[in-house]
Amino acid sequence: MQKGLLTLLAITLLAGTSLLNTTINNESNSFLEDEVMKVYQNWQKEHGKRYTQFENSHRFGIFKKNYEYIQEHQKRVDAGLETFEIGLNNFADLSVEEFEAKYLKYKSTPREQTRQVYNKQGKQVPVEVDLRKDGVVSDVKNQGSCGSCWAFSAVAALETALRQAGVKNVELSEQELVDCAVKDEFESEGCDGGEMYDGFAYASKYGIAIRSEYPYAGVDQQCAAKKTKTRYQFAGFVDVESLNPQAYVEAAAEHALSIGINASGINFQLYKKGIYNAKCDGSKPALNHGVTNVGYAPDYYLIKNSWGISWGESGYIRFARIQDKQGQCGAQQEVNYPLYTKFENQSVIFE
Ligand SMILES: *[C@@H]1O[C@H](CO)[C@@H](O)[C@H](O)[C@H]1NC(C)=O
Ligand SMILES: *[C@@H]1O[C@H](CO)[C@@H](O)[C@H](O)[C@H]1NC(C)=O
Ligand SMILES: *[C@@H]1O[C@H](CO)[C@@H](O)[C@H](O)[C@H]1NC(C)=O
Ligand SMILES: *[C@@H]1O[C@H](CO)[C@@H](O)[C@H](O)[C@H]1NC(C)=O
Repeated sequence: MQKGLLTLLAITLLAGTSLLNTTINNESNSFLEDEVMKVYQNWQKEHGKRYTQFENSHRFGIFKKNYEYIQEHQKRVDAGLETFEIGLNNFADLSVEEFEAKYLKYKSTPREQTRQVYNKQGKQVPVEVDLRKDGVVSDVKNQGSCGSCWAFSAVAALETALRQAGVKNVELSEQELVDCAVKDEFESEGCDGGEMYDGFAYASKYGIAIRSEYPYAGVDQQCAAKKTKTRYQFAGFVDVESLNPQAYVEAAAEHALSIGINASGINFQLYKKGIYNAKCDGSKPALNHGVTNVGYAPDYYLIKNSWGISWGESGYIRFARIQDKQGQCGAQQEVNYPLYTKFENQSVIFE
């Protein structure tokens, strides 16, 4: 009888403590939740994010997860275990899956090998190159929520080629590529993705308008190239020998390079600064984003992205120069640069 009473007492006590414990845990949880909510609300203000109530709680859930991941990552940064930082940028309320579906639309398609190729020559190259310092790199753009990375990567390289030929301060039309470098003649699919190669081929065959005459809309439209007047025609493009870091650097010493990379994963999505050296499948089928290489240093490649200047280092990311011949995230897989020769009569093509 007494024994039973004791047991009951013990059980009650135990239950009591564990209940207390849960309550405390819940309280500290909800305290944390409030803190993150404050961070979230400030972040929303900063980035102009407004949602319906339903959407908002869904977004907050993802944000919180990302926020916690960033905290964990920062601990590893502080411990010297990571070479790059991540942070609450414009994409902080998107899951990896959402992000990939929305933004990573580079489509690499098998190509015929009839084109001009730059092979490694064993040239001596400068230790460090930053084409921005030559004034031949245009401002970082923002593709918005259209899968047009390929057009931005191509245009960035076209713009640099143009500037290197002495045509200063010209910006070209990504939108024209989105609208016009499509089927049946090309493989690209506008906001649904494409490849830089099509942009170069198009700009070489038809020329490409300046940005102010054919501004960026961020949606698929009817091709309106015929309405434009100021156009620049290119002279083809070059494939840089694949999987070869020396060929890559030789080409990068002189040209802006359009490259395909695997940009999947939370680290790339939330990249803030530092030398990006994350685990990344750099095989050909994994390439899903088009960007532009505009320089290098002994320990990194300097890469221009098209997600605005609030992403990364003012719109740029530094990719670690790793031993793997694929390069960080496959950077050395598909590498191209366009050629520009000044013609006397530029404004032709469309009748
Ligand atoms: C109270 O919570 C902490 C942390 O969650 C846990 O380690 C501990 O075992 C709990 N104690 C009891 C009595 O449930
Ligand atoms: C603690 O929080 C969880 C989830 O938020 C909830 O399901 C549970 O009922 C709470 N427990 C107590 C004792 O408040
Ligand atoms: C990119 O690399 C990551 C890490 O290795 C991998 O999980 C992911 O599947 C790759 N992306 C694609 C599109 O293959
Ligand atoms: C430029 O003009 C010449 C002579 O009129 C013509 O043969 C040539 O095809 C033109 N070039 C382009 C790029 O249209």
